[in-house]
Amino acid sequence: MLITFEGIDGSGKSTQIELLKDKLQKAGHKVVVLREPGGTDISELIRGMLLNPEIEIDPVTELLLFSSARSQLMAEKVKPLLAENAVVILDRFYDSTTAYQGYGRGSLPLEQVHQINTVASHSIAPDLTFYLKLSLEESAKRTAHMQKDRMEKSGEAFFRRVIQGFDDLAEQEDRFVTIDASQSQDQVHTQIVEHISIL
Ligand code: TYD
Repeated sequence: MLITFEGIDGSGKSTQIELLKDKLQKAGHKVVVLREPGGTDISELIRGMLLNPEIEIDPVTELLLFSSARSQLMAEKVKPLLAENAVVILDRFYDSTTAYQGYGRGSLPLEQVHQINTVASHSIAPDLTFYLKLSLEESAKRTAHMQKDRMEKSGEAFFRRVIQGFDDLAEQEDRFVTIDASQSQDQVHTQIVEHISIL
């Protein structure tokens, strides 16, 4: 089973992923958590380039780098794990590419972004996607003390388009479950668990 988490910075993805991982493991499942971009040697190297605030990257190159990192992760980790029936939880997946590169940067027409996403994911789609929805204002408050990486320096108008991207995906895709991330950690966790059929 492939479960993905999406949302802007500060939405609490990492915390919720850890809580869900614990719950699934206690129920006897093998669970592996991986982050995007990252999770393999090559993908972590690409991550370093993508988040480095000192490097300027052309928008199409950026999209292809996120996609390359994803392709390697699928080949090396996700596909073999799914083949042995593990539960794979991904901290971001191709919906982030649609929202950040497609809507945010406007790198390429969405149709082309979707095609690249299909190639990069080796045609594997998530069974379930949790979208932890948070306003830009709340996100800014929660992340004010953190240092900003290259993506996080993209400005307010960019992030409004990213949110629009996630909102549109949530309407279009049946696998999306939208959860109000401004609620307490416990409330969010309870709502996530309600949607997991194997719990
Ligand atoms: P990360 O520190 O993992 O952010 P977060 O903790 O919010 O998940 O950095 C990943 C950054 O890369 C984040 O700003 C979102 C961005 N991103 C894209 O722009 N496109 C993508 O396809 C992915 C996977 C991430």
